[in-house]
Amino acid sequence: MSPNRQSVDRYRRHAAGYDASARRTMSLRRRAVALLDLRPGDVVLDVGAGTGLSYELLLAGVGEAGRVLAIEQSPEMFALACARIERHGWTNVWHCNAPAETVELPEPADAVLFNYVHDITRTPQAVANILRQSKPGARIAMAGMKYFPWWTGPLNLLAWAKNRPYNVRPGDMWQPWDIVETWCESFERRSTQAGMGYIARGIRRGTVD
Ligand SMILES: C[S@@+](CC[C@H](N)C(=O)[O-])C[C@H]1O[C@@H](n2cnc3c(N)ncnc32)[C@H](O)[C@@H]1O
Repeated sequence: MSPNRQSVDRYRRHAAGYDASARRTMSLRRRAVALLDLRPGDVVLDVGAGTGLSYELLLAGVGEAGRVLAIEQSPEMFALACARIERHGWTNVWHCNAPAETVELPEPADAVLFNYVHDITRTPQAVANILRQSKPGARIAMAGMKYFPWWTGPLNLLAWAKNRPYNVRPGDMWQPWDIVETWCESFERRSTQAGMGYIARGIRRGTVD
């Protein structure tokens, strides 16, 4: 089964309880959105938007003149994001139920958010498809889980076990930011959650090889 199919199967099981399980990490979502330094009128892209937990924060940043674009491949997660939009009556969100590897975006983004989307950030084709459609100079922010330093040994079993139910590539957490980093001309990162998480920001390079 393809990694995308496996991921869709996992999120079919997680969708209903997802928002409750994500409560503990909401402060990191907020921090990642703040790193985007959004301005009124910006177009911001939420990659792997899930149930749309970041939509309200992003809309507050871009204002009424701006626009939130979002993509999400799980039909069940996407349905919850649609319900969120309807509940709030938001009109300046364009979102679509499609994989990051092949989605075509309606316009280039000024800012791109990768919040807890490990399977996407570990897939070069997905990162390339998203970032080649964003503006040169776009602000990029990301947050997620990572392994503790190697010398902490068994602690990483905990990181792996927490990641495994959600992600298809739970073993690939040493430097989960490094594919996105290759697209950036400046990149800063710091550890969170006592070393089990990271948050980062970068600027998309002006030229792409
Ligand atoms: C842990 S959730 C994060 C959701 C949201 N960004 C948040 O902060 O709550 C990861 C999401 O990425 C989506 N996803 C995984 N692989 C994807 C892909 N290749 N294309 C689009 N979405 C994908 C999953 O369906 C899931 O909704």
